[in-house]
Amino acid sequence: MSGKPKLVTCGLPYTNGLCHIGHLRTYVPADCYVRYLRRAGEDVLFVCGSDNHGTPIVVSAEESGTTPRALSERYHTHFKETFERMGVLFDHFGMTDNKTNHARTRSIINRLIDRGYVYSEIINQSYCTSCERFLPDRYVEGTCPHCGKHARGDECDQGCGRHLEPGEILEPTCTVCRTKAEIREQEHYFFKLSAFRDYLLEYLKDLKGTLNARNYAIGWVENELRDWCITRTLNWGVRFPGNEELVVYVWVDAPIGYISFTEEWADAHNDDWRRYWCGDGEVTHFIGSDIIYHHCIFWPALLQAAGYGSPHAVVASGMLKVEDQKFSKSRGYVVWANEDYLDVGLPSDYLRYYLLSYTSHTKELNFSWKAFQERVNNELVNTLGNFIYRTIYFAEDKLGGIPDIQPRPEITEEIKKTRALVDDAFRAFDFKIAIDGIMTFAAFGNNYIQKNAPWKLMKTDPAEAEAVIADCLQIVKALALLLEPVIPDSAAKIWAMLGYERPISEYHLDEADTPLSGVTLQKAAPLFTKLDDEKYAVLETTFAGRVEAAKKKQEAHEEKKEMVTIDEFGKMDLRVGRILSAEPIKGSKKLLKIAVDIGSEKRQVVSGIAPFYTPEALIGSQVVMITNLEPATIFGVESRGMILAAGDDAALLLPNREVEPGTKIR
Ligand code: 2FM
Ligand code: ZN
Repeated sequence: MSGKPKLVTCGLPYTNGLCHIGHLRTYVPADCYVRYLRRAGEDVLFVCGSDNHGTPIVVSAEESGTTPRALSERYHTHFKETFERMGVLFDHFGMTDNKTNHARTRSIINRLIDRGYVYSEIINQSYCTSCERFLPDRYVEGTCPHCGKHARGDECDQGCGRHLEPGEILEPTCTVCRTKAEIREQEHYFFKLSAFRDYLLEYLKDLKGTLNARNYAIGWVENELRDWCITRTLNWGVRFPGNEELVVYVWVDAPIGYISFTEEWADAHNDDWRRYWCGDGEVTHFIGSDIIYHHCIFWPALLQAAGYGSPHAVVASGMLKVEDQKFSKSRGYVVWANEDYLDVGLPSDYLRYYLLSYTSHTKELNFSWKAFQERVNNELVNTLGNFIYRTIYFAEDKLGGIPDIQPRPEITEEIKKTRALVDDAFRAFDFKIAIDGIMTFAAFGNNYIQKNAPWKLMKTDPAEAEAVIADCLQIVKALALLLEPVIPDSAAKIWAMLGYERPISEYHLDEADTPLSGVTLQKAAPLFTKLDDEKYAVLETTFAGRVEAAKKKQEAHEEKKEMVTIDEFGKMDLRVGRILSAEPIKGSKKLLKIAVDIGSEKRQVVSGIAPFYTPEALIGSQVVMITNLEPATIFGVESRGMILAAGDDAALLLPNREVEPGTKIR
């Protein structure tokens, strides 16, 4: 334990989408870590906030007809409320678009400029002639210059995962209007990241947290470290102090949010934020593994250049799968925190328990409703809940309260052993190991009560029954304190059942082996409820429906064609015709040979609509057809044109009132 001020943060959620299990995989462990340190008597500050800048938010705001600020406020509130519902309790949850962050960002940039770490350069940038603007980041997509895969403007998201600098993407296309972008020159500002190679290699050697973060970062720094373009042509963000026409790249002002949120908290609490950022404070960042580069390379270099302290630890969570598939919102492999989980009445503690104990923090986590059901029923309900309920029920109902007996030394010993294991594990970010240790201890309690059977002892040796229950109550007390960081709501309930009036969050872990005294046991109530098969089926069906809907949406999207000009459209000769005759084509179940009156002539076409219409039903009907399609011979029959129909079951297009055959469509 160190007496240094500790600050814990979580990667900031962007304000253009809802909270999902991917966020929670990082936020819940961070909250658990903070709660654990607090139970262990440490002074920890826990801050986070929403990430409001950057092109994705501008694009989303444009799409939903609102302003980036209004959109951000909406999602900011959503995240704040959702985190609270999940028991993720920040001391402060700020916004990167707030004044404090604008001011802190500009002050840091000015410091970088003064110290000679920023230079300007004319670079080639994608420009959309149709939207008449430069295309930063998500406004452009194209081909990754490194691996050749389709990529977003600032990130090769479908290929090698590299960060892409402005102007690097090949074959750029505007994501708003799909026009092929042209390359134009523009002045931008760069941070001399390459000057920090040696510093970073030294710094990373000692970086605490999880090894995945440190090792990836070392690899990248050893490999290549290019200077970093820190400005964008956008109307939303922090104005760049060197050129007010530009804004600072979102990945500069977002992590600076960690500082400004500390400032906001400190201002409100009469404290000094510098304790954390400019003194001997220890800052620990919890992040997803996709943003290791930003936190272990850009960020410490920026802090060093500006004369601030660098983060003490970076804790990166592993990848996520949902029902065996890579997490993907667009493909439906997602669990939404509210809609799929909290709003259907599932307790936050169940998901917290699952996320924290499923696998090691840095390994891939595969969420499945089946595994969720099993873990809840077997571990929370059967092992933990059962033991606690039996103990409190027996003590309250059969003994009339807490026996006035000291727990046996072997019980106190078991508590100390578990506590030491849990302490090491939580401090090493091994949440699973810590929870396995706690659950082994709960199983020990279960065996203890089962083996000693106080309900039988009551008849033969009531004093021994009391001693056994005193031991079990001590185990329950220790379990509540150890589990508070994991399942805080349930721990609070246990604490109240044990008769404590002050909340468990006010107690130190040292209390785990001190006797229960001065409290009056309350009536036992079940802590957890089984997730029955019916409920499981509903959860599974909702999930399957979402995947199916996403698939349909994706298919529809993939069919989207390139833009055509009005001239290109004008090349098509579309006319209304009237069907004169229709007959099957020998050897084909799908095709009909159709004669159409198109005003100036009678035209023969072959059409694949036989599964949906009888020839008789078609005769006399008006249709829309393209008359200048190149002729083709299908099943030996010449076709000169095409009748237009919509969808898989070929609904024919008709004018909504009769018009002369040959009428042109324009
Ligand atoms: O990747 C993301 O979701 C970013 N909004 C995280 C920012 S974390 C920090 F650096 F501010
Ligand atoms: Zn790539």
